[in-house]
Amino acid sequence: MTGGRWAEVDGYLERELLGADAVLEQALAANAAAGLPAIDVTAAQGRLLTVLSGAIGATRILEIGTLGGYSTICLARSLPPGGRLISLELVPAYAEVARRNLGRAGLGELVEIRVGAALELLPGLAGEAPFDLIFIDADKAEHADYLGWALRLARPGSLIVADNVIRGGSVTEADSDDPRVQGVRRMFERLGSDPQLSATAIQTVGSKGWDGFAIALVTGDRNRR
Ligand code: SAH
Ligand code: DHB
Ligand code: MG
Repeated sequence: MTGGRWAEVDGYLERELLGADAVLEQALAANAAAGLPAIDVTAAQGRLLTVLSGAIGATRILEIGTLGGYSTICLARSLPPGGRLISLELVPAYAEVARRNLGRAGLGELVEIRVGAALELLPGLAGEAPFDLIFIDADKAEHADYLGWALRLARPGSLIVADNVIRGGSVTEADSDDPRVQGVRRMFERLGSDPQLSATAIQTVGSKGWDGFAIALVTGDRNRR
């Protein structure tokens, strides 16, 4: 398989499963117009977030890494009335674009975007916890640190999803001097060794290449897998 065919299949899945989505298309156009990098999740991956969040009936969601709010829209769409999503973003200009995109999506009331470095904002979220679903998608060098905070802000039954954990296979490069590779590898060590987690990862290919998600259930039970 080649990257071209992966993208072709993503197009097919979008047509068959997702259909035209003016809200998400407008968000991508607004992101591009504002000069944001096109590193959002793909449409099919965004639907995975909607499905996972809906499956667990999430009412409180935390996202780390907003960009223009594409994944935020996908997650917030699963919320019932009165649900709440808090998303953390380092770059104020990105947060502004995201707020406009969420407003156009009719989700502005449910979503709060907080601006700053995630590791500085996360300690202030204790009063909003526990979150039912936590989506980790900010600076990959800090992936393991975000996982630590996600656990503090979760409860048994919470789902933790982390993006970009495969990165073209680079995750297996134990000697890599790329801090993002090492950050993701530290996250996997924690995912595999923490007795309160039942975790896996799925590799993905598609229009944005070869990457993957880690998905972990907080079991809160040392003996359960
Ligand atoms: N979740 C988005 C993509 C996020 S891209 C989507 O799929 O649509 C990663 C984002 O994390 C970028 O917007 C970047 O500015 C932000 N980021 C990077 N380092 C950060 C940090 N230390 N704290 C908070 N956000 C950070
Ligand atoms: C990058 C960040 C992402 O969240 C992503 O999905 C793809 C790439 C990046 O920083 O390059
Ligand atoms: Mg990502």
